[in-house]
Amino acid sequence: MIIKNIGELVGIVPEGVLRKQGAEMAETGALKDAWIAIEDGRIAGFGKMADLPDGEVGEPVEPTDIDAAGGMVMPAFCDSHTHIVYAGSRDGEFLDKINGLSYEEIAVRGGGILNSADLLHETTEDELFRQSMERVREMMAKGTGAIEIKSGYGLNPADELKMLRVIRRIRESVPALVKSTFLGAHAVGRGYTHEGYVQAVIDMMPQAVELADFVDVFCDDGFFSVDDTDRILTAGAACDLRPKIHANELAVSGGVQVGVKHGALSVDHLERTTEAEIDALRGSVTMPTMLPGSSFFLGIPYGRAKAFIDAGLGIALASDYNPGSSPSGDLRFIMALACIRMRLTPVQALNALTLNSAYAMGLSDVTGSITPGKRADLLLTHPGWTLTKLPYTYQTPFIRQVFLGGQVVK
Ligand code: NIG
Ligand code: FE
Repeated sequence: MIIKNIGELVGIVPEGVLRKQGAEMAETGALKDAWIAIEDGRIAGFGKMADLPDGEVGEPVEPTDIDAAGGMVMPAFCDSHTHIVYAGSRDGEFLDKINGLSYEEIAVRGGGILNSADLLHETTEDELFRQSMERVREMMAKGTGAIEIKSGYGLNPADELKMLRVIRRIRESVPALVKSTFLGAHAVGRGYTHEGYVQAVIDMMPQAVELADFVDVFCDDGFFSVDDTDRILTAGAACDLRPKIHANELAVSGGVQVGVKHGALSVDHLERTTEAEIDALRGSVTMPTMLPGSSFFLGIPYGRAKAFIDAGLGIALASDYNPGSSPSGDLRFIMALACIRMRLTPVQALNALTLNSAYAMGLSDVTGSITPGKRADLLLTHPGWTLTKLPYTYQTPFIRQVFLGGQVVK
């Protein structure tokens, strides 16, 4: 299949480039008046309309060909940090928040993550799958083609494994790529002491590794310490689980440093960082990942993305879609927040939401850019759209079609 008459093809990256850092964040390959070919679910090639091979010029000839009519084609978004397997809603806490309670105050009163754990405990696995799939479908229709999903609302062995099985079932049911993260250490489960729960998480590791790709710890004020994190990540490493860490959301936690020490694929949140975190990340394999949806919803600082980029680092952006701190998986809105509030350029935000977020889930060799051989995970916009207009007129519908693995999902 060929998509012809593309106004601009953006997000072209040479083969073998797995992430962008520093000044590279400001670059993306783009081609005007272009075509792109999809074969067996992969990108087979692209070029200028003027250079279409003989017999392919002019109006669409194959019934499967698509006339983009000047629309833009870009890589589908990648969401490297979500908690979309959850039960019910926390709209009561939303009212508490409006009335002035902070995220920490809601958590201390037994709300927050523990509230979601209670709801999940009472929900059957089939129902949990059904509710979670609604979110996945919404995300795919909004242009997301790769999704990391965390456990962490189980907080006991049976319910954590229930979550991980639901994530596996989602992976088997959708054309989006899905990665699974064991976040047993999201909060101390009911009925456990802090120390007893850290040990329980370590003991869950051999079963979790059967279902999960990564291990995560909420290393932050009032949740898990650097020492807890170090122990849990050591147990994860013994099972070959690479870390992705929650760090520096509520305080400068030391989570970045312990994550880098363990070769984390990403350290996420980073609403509160100092130069020490930037220094720790320099030269590492770890992708700093910022979640402006949480900053927006909780009213906490935005990550210092520009300082990170000026220091030569890459950054990824993700939704953090969850019922407590970021109840949205709309990555176009995340792009708008990144541009409007963090002052990233649209190109920097695109790189952060595609190639770099794919890197943050170990997928940048298969998706996240326009590169021959990669999966055809693509968005086709309505005519007249440019990359800059996505975060600018940030609520006007722009997606005409979404292709995941070459398959039309919208
Ligand atoms: O990434 N910070 C920890 N975990 C989630 C929030 C989870 C919740 O409140 O349910 C986050 O923001
Ligand atoms: Fe999170």
